[in-house]
This record gives sequence, structure tokens and C-alpha cells, in this order.
Amino acid sequence: MNVLLTGGAGFIGSNLVRLLLAERPGWRLVVLDKLTYAGNAENLAELEGHPRYRFVRGDICNGELVAEVMRSERIDAVMHLAAESHVDRSILAPAVFIDTNVRGTQVLLEAARELGVQRFLHVSTDEVYGSLGPTGLFTELTPLDPSSPYSASKASSDLLALAYAHTFALPVVVTRCSNNYGPFQFPEKLIPLMIANAVRDRPLPVYGDGMNVRDWIHVEDHCRGLLAALELGEPGQVYNFGASSERHNLDIVRQVLKLLGKPESLITYVKDRLGHDRRYAIDSSKAQARLGWAPRHRFEAALGETVAWYVEHRAWWERILTGEYLKYYEQQYGARR
Ligand code: NAD
Ligand code: DAU
Repeated sequence: MNVLLTGGAGFIGSNLVRLLLAERPGWRLVVLDKLTYAGNAENLAELEGHPRYRFVRGDICNGELVAEVMRSERIDAVMHLAAESHVDRSILAPAVFIDTNVRGTQVLLEAARELGVQRFLHVSTDEVYGSLGPTGLFTELTPLDPSSPYSASKASSDLLALAYAHTFALPVVVTRCSNNYGPFQFPEKLIPLMIANAVRDRPLPVYGDGMNVRDWIHVEDHCRGLLAALELGEPGQVYNFGASSERHNLDIVRQVLKLLGKPESLITYVKDRLGHDRRYAIDSSKAQARLGWAPRHRFEAALGETVAWYVEHRAWWERILTGEYLKYYEQQYGARR
């Protein structure tokens, strides 16, 4: 089977590429990635020359390129992960989120329809459901109520994907996952940002009161879920993924400090994120029952392994924390204290 994987140079994409090459020896993977600030060719460097892997640098909004890659590579299935993925950036500059997440998704769907692709996995997020109060869980039937430009763009792309399933019978499956953590995550996201700052004895910027709740899942568990959804998901259906690991942000920051032997005095409360969703928590029982999937990693142990990975791979994230990213960090955190 020939699989087109968009966004393969990002955090989840690069973990997924390695998992698929290892677990599906009959598959050939073509990664299409624009290498934006978040895409890092280094994440896939070890695969150069691999006989079942090809990397194409390009924009999913480029319809000609997308159709040409799908046609020439005789693509059977698409796993669509390419996106602008950071909520704070969507608040600073929303337009590119509409371009990539909405228009780019429609370009891929259209090419897949024209070329008769057998499977289209659209990788989405629990953020499309909005924010929960102190109790309850998101199910696949929870109404969409996105809060940020990022989540609104993802909700739009989910609806387009489902519309292509309904209108054109394109075999689309949509997945919605909670917050991922693990190796190769761009250090603008909570866990790697806190690790990188703590290692360097820099302030740890906690938004608001630090009591917002996220439901954490190890990236490998998410990737196994994506594989299961591609192979076993029913066209037109949505599957939630999560690992029942709700934590307050502050608890995570404290655990990171403890694991690194750093003082809690590094915690710095900063101005809250605009429109900050209070709580996410996901019910993944449908994926567990219908896809035979279950998370394997337990949060506390896997957080320890993740912290150790970032300590061991300091050169990887230090190379990122320069240039363009420095400008963003100053814009995002410079005026917030
Ligand atoms: P990421 O930001 O680490 O990677 C995104 C990748 O997409 C990068 O390699 C980037 O270069 C590429 N890309 C961006 N715009 C592109 C374009 N126009 N054309 C081609 N490539 C482009 O993101 P991630 O955290 O790995 O997330 C991957 C997907 O999973 C996204 O769709 C995201 O919405 C979804 N998701 C993420 C999480 C999470 O916790 N990180 C949870 C649920 C769902
Ligand atoms: O729920 C899935 C989503 O999880 C994905 O769709 C997104 O792509 C991914 O970025 C993530 O979104 P969040 O906004 O939840 O993740 P982030 O790591 O940006 O923030 C997690 C929590 O930590 C959130 O409540 C905001 C808070 N935070 C974040 C940063 C970067 C801080 O307190 N300080 C920070 O510096």
C-alpha cells in the first residue's frame, strides 16, 4: 500500500512515520511537508535513503503539486496531519490557520476524490468540542463549539472532511485526540517548553491560575490509534482518542521541576491566554470498542521518560530555540509578565 502522510516532519507525523515503517513492512510512505517553522527535516534524518520512504517538500494548498504526488506515487491512502497547530500563534496571527487547516484540507480532499483514493484519515483534535466545566467528557456526539482560531479552523476542516464523505462517498475517517506529549514535540508547547526552560533555570510561564486541565496522551498511543483508525475505521465516522490522564497545568509544571531537581521558585504566573479553554477530557470508549485500541503508556512514568529524552536531546531543541523561534518567544512572552 502507498500512503501519503502530510505533516510528517512535525511532532506527531515524525513519530507516526517511524511507527508505520516498523509495523507495516508492506507499506511505502510519501511524506508531504512544507517545513514551516514547526517542520524539522532533522526529525526524519535517520530515514534518508530508506527504500520505503520518500520526502517531498511542498505546501498542501498547492493543488497541482498535491495531485501530481498522489498520481505519480499511486497513493492508496492519505493520513492528513499537516496543520498550523499552536493555539497561541492562532491568536497572534490567525490567517495562516485558515489557509493551511481549512483550504489545505479541502485541496487534499478534492485531489483524493478525483484520484479515487481508498482511504482518507483526517487527524483532528478534541479542541473542536470547546471547553468543559468541572465534570463530563467529550464524546463523538458532543456538539462542536471551538473557541480559538486554531480550533475553529480544525472544526471547519472536520466538517469539510465529513461533507466529502457524505456528498462524494469519499472514504473519510476523522479522529479527534487530546493533548499529546513525547519526543520531538516543538518546544512552544507546554511540556517541552517547561522542560527547556527549567533545564536552563529560566522562568516557567504559567498562564492564568495554572488550574486549566488537559487530558494527556503519549504520542505513540495516538499514533497506534491513527493506524487502527486507518485500517479499521468506518467511513464517515469520528473516533476520539485519549488516555484518561487529566492533569492541572500547574501539577505538570511541578512534576517537571521535581524530575529535573529544580526549585518551584522558577514558576512565573503570566497573563492568561485569550479565550483560554478551562478543561478538556475525552471519552475514547468508541475507539476502544470498535477499533480494538487502548492506550499503553501511563502518564507519570511516560512523563519521566519524556523529560529524560529532552535532557538527552538538548542539542535538538537548542537548535530550534534560535532565529525565528526567538522572535515568537519575545512576542508571546515578552509583554505578558
Ligand atoms: P506540528 O506543528 O508539530 O507539525 C505540523 C507539521 O505540518 C509540520 O511539519 C509543518 O511543517 C507541516 N505543515 C504546516 N503547514 C503546512 C502546509 N501548508 N503544507 C504542508 N505541510 C505543512 O503539529 P503536531 O502537533 O504534530 O500536530 C499534527 C496534527 O495533529 C495537526 O493536524 C494537529 O491539529 C493534530 N493534533 C495535534 C495534537 C497535539 O497535541 N499536538 C492533538 C490532537 C490533534
Ligand atoms: O487538545 C489537543 C490540542 O493540544 C492540539 O490540538 C493542539 O495542536 C496542541 O497544541 C494542544 O493545544 P493546547 O493549547 O492545549 O496545548 P499547549 O501546550 O499550548 O497548552 C497546554 C496548556 O498549558 C494550556 O492550558 C495552556 C497552558 N500553557 C501553555 C504554554 C505554551 C501555559 O500555561 N504556559 C505556556 O507557556
